Amino acid sequence: MSGTGQSELNPDRIPKHVAIVMDGNGRWARLRGLPRLQGHNAGMIALKEIVKRSSQLGISHLTVYAFSTENWRRPEDEVLGIFKLLVLYVRKEIRELDENNVVVNIWGDWSLLPGDARAEIQRAIDTTKGNTGLRFNIALNYGGRAEIVRAAQSLCRDVQEGTRTLDGIDEGAMSERMYSGGVPDPDVIIRTGGEYRLSNFLLWQSAYSELVVTDILWPDFTPDEFEKALIKYQLRNRRYGGLA
Ligand code: FPP
Repeated sequence: MSGTGQSELNPDRIPKHVAIVMDGNGRWARLRGLPRLQGHNAGMIALKEIVKRSSQLGISHLTVYAFSTENWRRPEDEVLGIFKLLVLYVRKEIRELDENNVVVNIWGDWSLLPGDARAEIQRAIDTTKGNTGLRFNIALNYGGRAEIVRAAQSLCRDVQEGTRTLDGIDEGAMSERMYSGGVPDPDVIIRTGGEYRLSNFLLWQSAYSELVVTDILWPDFTPDEFEKALIKYQLRNRRYGGLA
């Protein structure tokens, strides 16, 4: 339930894990008569600021949905354009991310991305792996259902090889085999662009995540708007199926 009266973030209740569906780049561009890729470019600029603010706020894990397994259905120039932006993002930002002690990880099957994107991703992972600050997870060629199938197959393989019994497949084991293995489930999933759906994002991990939807289009999502969304989260009463 949301209440009233809280206008500032409570520093004692900063979520450990924030996940974001960065939606609305295309509409942002269309409203300005620009090509969709310009919207994604503006989205990349917005993302930089949100990562910085997440670090400053002491959030431990930030996971963003950058490219879904369904996004391949978009026109080829848009798909390739998003990957080019990723390359640009890493080239431009890697030093600052590293200086800010950020650890970059990718969730999803990035083996299918173009070679230059794979090379930059590898560089980002290698450069930042020893850091101890914000863990920044970029979901790329990611799908929640595919992730669950992958985890189930991996556990079944253990059974086949005799290293695990059938009863050894439980929720904890499944969680460990997700891309998010070892990372707490998101406390809050923020979606910009006004749609009320998960779009195949973090289906396993979102069981008890609070959802905050804002009409603001992703390129307009400033760090101040981010804080407003986090305040909405802080006003929720989390019960995890129990009583208040
Ligand atoms: C959804 O908006 C956004 C995406 C599919 C791409 C997200 C990409 C970025 C934020 C920039 C690139 C950054 C990295 C790190 C790759 P949409 O196109 O579905 O918008 P619409 O619903 O208004 O059409």
